[in-house]
Formats: sequence, C-alpha cells, structure tokens
Amino acid sequence: MKIPDIIIAVDGCSSTGKSTFAKMVAQAFGFLYLDSGAMYRGVTLYAMENGLIGPEGEIDEAALKAVIGGLDLYFGEGGLHLGERCIEKEIRTLEVSSHVSPVSAIGFVREFVDSKLHAFSEGGRVIMDGRDIGTTVFPNAQLKIFMTATDQVRAQRRYDEMIAKGETPTFEEVLANLRERDYIDSHREVSPLTQAPDAFVLDNTEMTLHEELVWIQGLIQGRFGILC
Ligand code: DC
Repeated sequence: MKIPDIIIAVDGCSSTGKSTFAKMVAQAFGFLYLDSGAMYRGVTLYAMENGLIGPEGEIDEAALKAVIGGLDLYFGEGGLHLGERCIEKEIRTLEVSSHVSPVSAIGFVREFVDSKLHAFSEGGRVIMDGRDIGTTVFPNAQLKIFMTATDQVRAQRRYDEMIAKGETPTFEEVLANLRERDYIDSHREVSPLTQAPDAFVLDNTEMTLHEELVWIQGLIQGRFGILC
C-alpha cells in the first residue's frame, strides 16, 4: 500500500459540519476530499434495497458478509456510485440515516470500508472525514481535527438541509436520530467515535465557515508550509 503524501483526518459526531468543512479545505488547498460516512451509507442502502435489513431493523449479517467484497462503491461524478448508478441522493435520506449506525458497527463492514478508503487515498493529498479516521483508519495522519457543536445546533443544521432538499421530517425526529447515532457510534465495540489524543478540537457552535477556514489555514501553514 502506498501511503498518502498528506492526510488530514476530520472526525466528530453527526452533523458537526465535518463534510462542509472538509470540502471547503479540499477546495482551498487542492486536496482530494473523501467522505467515509458516505461509504457506510452506501453499504446500508445496498442492504436495504436487497432485503438484508428486516422490518425491525435486523441485519442479515451472513448474507451481507457473502456479498460485501463485490460491492463496487466509489466516488465518481456527482458523489458516491454503486456500479454505474450515482446513489448520492438516496444515501442521505432519514431512512438510511436510521439504519446506518448498526450497519457501521459490524466488524467486516468496517474492514471493507477501511480497505476502500486506503485504496482511494494512495499517494495523494487527502482530507477525509468520519468517526475514526484519526484513531483507526489513518492513526498516523499528520493533522487531526475533532469537530464538535451543541446537539441543538447540529440538529437544526441537518433539519434545514433536509427541508431544503424537499424532505419533510420534524425537528424532533432529526434530533432523536442524531442523538441515537451519536450514542451507537461512540459506544460500539469496533472503532468507536473518540477524540484522538493528538487532535485539535474545533467547536463551531458559534463559528462561520470563514472563521473555520482562517482557523485551519494557520494549522496547515504551520504543519505543511502550504498557503491556499
Ligand atoms: O458522517 P455521516 O453522518 O454521513 O456518517 C454516517 C454513519 O456512518 C454514522 O452514523 C457513523 C458511520 N461512520 C462510521 O462509523 N465511521 C466513519 N469513519 C464514518 C461514518
């Protein structure tokens, strides 16, 4: 495996603005952006569409294990693809969000996603967001960011995003889903969400995107000597 030239790991709870932040940094500094949560969502969508998740949310792990190695998930034009099909929109629904945490707690699912993320990152300058990038996927990442914000603010952001896309959840549903995912993500046995000891904390509860960019510019310049 060729290790990435530079890797910036961005971890944190759901809806802390990791992907918006990481995309902005990728664009400003010319890094490749990789959204690891999208991969878990892609596996979940596949499982839902193929009858591998039952009405009570029970997962047919044996059947998923048998097929997961053959899943052609990759980032292409417009976002995540499964084979020929762009599934970027489908993986963002509340239904997928409500099943993704248990799916992502399965060890073989994590191994599958980690191996894809390593392959996508080979040799490049990469910024990747998720829950365990700085702790498990790339523990040697040169720069680690851990993002936080209050749960009310996070739920409001996710709610606004969904409304803008024409979905019709209630604020309470979004908040409940977010709290449930935070709990599962940080209490699972395999690679739980935790702050790496060497991560810089970015609490953006009251920050604008521009302030976040200014904050990271200083860190990137100091660590890599790169200006955007
Ligand atoms: O970032 P997101 O909300 O799109 O992530 C979806 C789910 O995937 C999240 O609830 C937990 C899981 N996930 C994970 O376990 N590890 C990662 N590195 C990224 C996401």
